[in-house]
Amino acid sequence: MQYSRKFFSLLFAGMLAMASASCSAESGAPAAAGMVDSKLTEKNINAELKKAYDKYKGLKEGANADYIPALDKVDSNIFGIVLVTVDGKVYSVGDITSEVSIQSISKVFTMALVTEEKGTALLPENVGVDATGQVFNSIHAIEQYQGHEMNPLVNAGAITTTSLVEGKSYNEIWNKILNYYGEFAGRELTVLEDIYKSEAATNQRNQAIAHLMYAYGHIEGDPLQATDIYTRQCSVGVNAKDLAVMASTLANAGTNPVTGKDLVKPADIPEILAVMATAGLYDDAGKWLYKTGLPAKSGVGGGIIAISPGKFGIAAISPPLDAAGNSVRAQKAIADISAALGGNPYEVQPYGK
Ligand code: DON
Repeated sequence: MQYSRKFFSLLFAGMLAMASASCSAESGAPAAAGMVDSKLTEKNINAELKKAYDKYKGLKEGANADYIPALDKVDSNIFGIVLVTVDGKVYSVGDITSEVSIQSISKVFTMALVTEEKGTALLPENVGVDATGQVFNSIHAIEQYQGHEMNPLVNAGAITTTSLVEGKSYNEIWNKILNYYGEFAGRELTVLEDIYKSEAATNQRNQAIAHLMYAYGHIEGDPLQATDIYTRQCSVGVNAKDLAVMASTLANAGTNPVTGKDLVKPADIPEILAVMATAGLYDDAGKWLYKTGLPAKSGVGGGIIAISPGKFGIAAISPPLDAAGNSVRAQKAIADISAALGGNPYEVQPYGK
């Protein structure tokens, strides 16, 4: 296992080096990937981050989430953007130290944990990997197919995914989740207790969702324990740099490019990114993918991460959200920056041109 991860890392590094070369060895034609990658220079990245930050810092659209009372009290002016390339270089602009709660972005990393523990077959079978087209905490979506045909990034699928993390006790499961998130961020993370308490006091809808998933046989253990651990994972504090390093680990085939730690098998990354692409921004996932081509995930704390596979991970934090629960400024900033830097994985040139 160790050997094969190393092998993939080397292979991946080799592929990147080839992509950066200006011409292909045999035909002399420019390498398409190299042409796109040539936009990823230090100067370009810093310029595009600054441009997006200046363009959107005064934008006042959207509002903080308030169905979790403590989220309404978070400073709406927090705005930071960080991009981390797969060689571990960190580029940032704006507020990169203020922490917000990770919220639904956590779902990606618990999905990764369960995928690593149990393999790629379990989650599609248990909760599904299809976009629901419904709000993220839809009960209707559960009822439609008795808890199937959903995905690990909506609340029902996410609480079920959390219930699948292996461990003998609440604390063992929780510590494993928290430590795993910390490995992605490259530092120890902690829970924002005010957010946790506020959500735990008002999460009756999620408790109902967990009970339904239990009733339909998707959750096997205690549904209230799963809901509480899920609530705690959503309350983990992260800044824009943490989120970008987490995103860059997914962009870098599962190895944290800053710490060098292997966290997800390279072979499992495409499945995780596929679910992010179809369901990461919920009922607006299609609009987002149409515009950017990037697998992404939002959280009602105001963060969004997006992945340009093999190139970079990017994150932005800004608490005011649109009607679908996605940060207004973070969506706009990430979309602009990625477009300018050639981040869309679907954007290729005809061969030889
Ligand atoms: O369960 C909830 O409602 C929150 N803890 C997370 C929701 C969320 O972040 C949706 N994302 N945009």
